[in-house]
Amino acid sequence: MISRKVLATVLVAAGVVGLSACAPDTDSSWTPVQWPVVGRMLTAPPPPVDPAGIALASQRIRNDAVRVEARWAYLPGAHPLNEKVEATVRAAIGEQSAAVGVVYEPQVFGVEAALRERGCVAGVTALPAAELLGASTDSHTVVVCEIVHAAGSTLGERLRVVRGSATAVESDQITTLYTDGATGAVGDGASLIGETDVLWEDVVSVARRAAGGLSLIAVAPPSDEQRASLGRALQDASFVGGELVVPLPVGFTAPELEGLAGWQMPDAEHPVWVSLPRESYDPALTDFGRLIADAQGPFAGPTTAGAAFDRTPCDLVPCMALTLDDGPSGLTDGILDALRDRHSSATFFMLGRNAQNRPDTVRRVSAEGHEIGNHTWNHSDLTTLTDERIAAELQSTGDLLRSLSGQAVSTFRPPYGALNDRVLGVASMPAILWSVDTRDWAGQSDADLLSYSVSAPRVGTIMLMHDIQGATGRVMPQVLDGLLDRGFSLVTLSKLFDGQIPGGIVRYAP
Ligand code: NI
Repeated sequence: MISRKVLATVLVAAGVVGLSACAPDTDSSWTPVQWPVVGRMLTAPPPPVDPAGIALASQRIRNDAVRVEARWAYLPGAHPLNEKVEATVRAAIGEQSAAVGVVYEPQVFGVEAALRERGCVAGVTALPAAELLGASTDSHTVVVCEIVHAAGSTLGERLRVVRGSATAVESDQITTLYTDGATGAVGDGASLIGETDVLWEDVVSVARRAAGGLSLIAVAPPSDEQRASLGRALQDASFVGGELVVPLPVGFTAPELEGLAGWQMPDAEHPVWVSLPRESYDPALTDFGRLIADAQGPFAGPTTAGAAFDRTPCDLVPCMALTLDDGPSGLTDGILDALRDRHSSATFFMLGRNAQNRPDTVRRVSAEGHEIGNHTWNHSDLTTLTDERIAAELQSTGDLLRSLSGQAVSTFRPPYGALNDRVLGVASMPAILWSVDTRDWAGQSDADLLSYSVSAPRVGTIMLMHDIQGATGRVMPQVLDGLLDRGFSLVTLSKLFDGQIPGGIVRYAP
């Protein structure tokens, strides 16, 4: 790179000296042929997009048996981009799983795994593959993601799948997926550009000028091999400040470049990018590419109303369900804040007598996507009541909760877990018990409650806490952080069972 700059400086200096020496004989009608500027060469990657402020449902998994770690991000809600992103992640995990001969199952770890930070990282897909693979000498797979485009209603997410070990990179694949949130259209990087050949001449001309070529010459059309090579490079292209930035493939060259003193073929240590202005790449754009290129202003895509509205595939990420009983109370809003700030969901088994006093809290629980279940009106031991009283306890509570929340409220939790066949028969809906009881009412220290609540859950656990207990309100942020650090996603009961909560008594998800 330095040699190119030096060469250019020498030539410019020589030209200036020559002109001034011959000034008396200058023909003022002569002007040099303008070499139209078609773009420029970059020796550093374009600045990464800052994902802060873009609402995303960020994910992360780690599985030591299969030897895979993956980070990716969904758009909030049900968006077509999410299926494509997930397909890439699943394919990477599937290949790694087949290679090691171990079936993939969601796994959780100790708190020290620190898996709370999820999703995409700016600049990560431009790192050397060896840096992503780390020091492990066993062959493993790493999936990382980066937001490479965010303008108006359009977004671009780049996923990079690297497989190998500290000693060898076995494969390294990049997929960039673009979408328009307004129409739901999704396409990869290659779908932005229709006519690759249109760009070939400009790409070669830019490289030629950067290499010290002083005249514009005719560029021969690309060979099939060159066309394919540029096509692959365009898959990793991105729009930056109105220009199309194309990474030149390793080994890229053309007959017009050979013999130029400043030409250095790009290699892994010396990557280069060509940045083309709109007038250069515009004729090559597809309709979809034009939509992405035209998008302007800050990203204004879908926003999240709560984690429960966003995609969380529990066969891929380790899920558990936090359940909170006996509220709502004055503590419930603080717990909702903690859940919201950590993109987590819970299920609230409410008492009718408390819900009637805090209708706004019931509405907030529902509006933020948390699930509501029936915990009776008076918190009576249902096994001691007549059939008519059991029905009345559940009916009055269910009616109130449904009218306040708009939810179906189709599960119940018997107070004290007291249950028999008669109660089950009268209730005729799933009875949700638990597999981890934190005993947050029993007067233990906050430290003990926190420690147990974070360490006891496994994948599929239904955990019991109470949003009327001060200790639970106090430790909730740390409990959530601890569970997220272990790799858990906290989901509603419906999500834990993928929408199909079984009938009868339910204690955990299989
Ligand atoms: Ni209770």
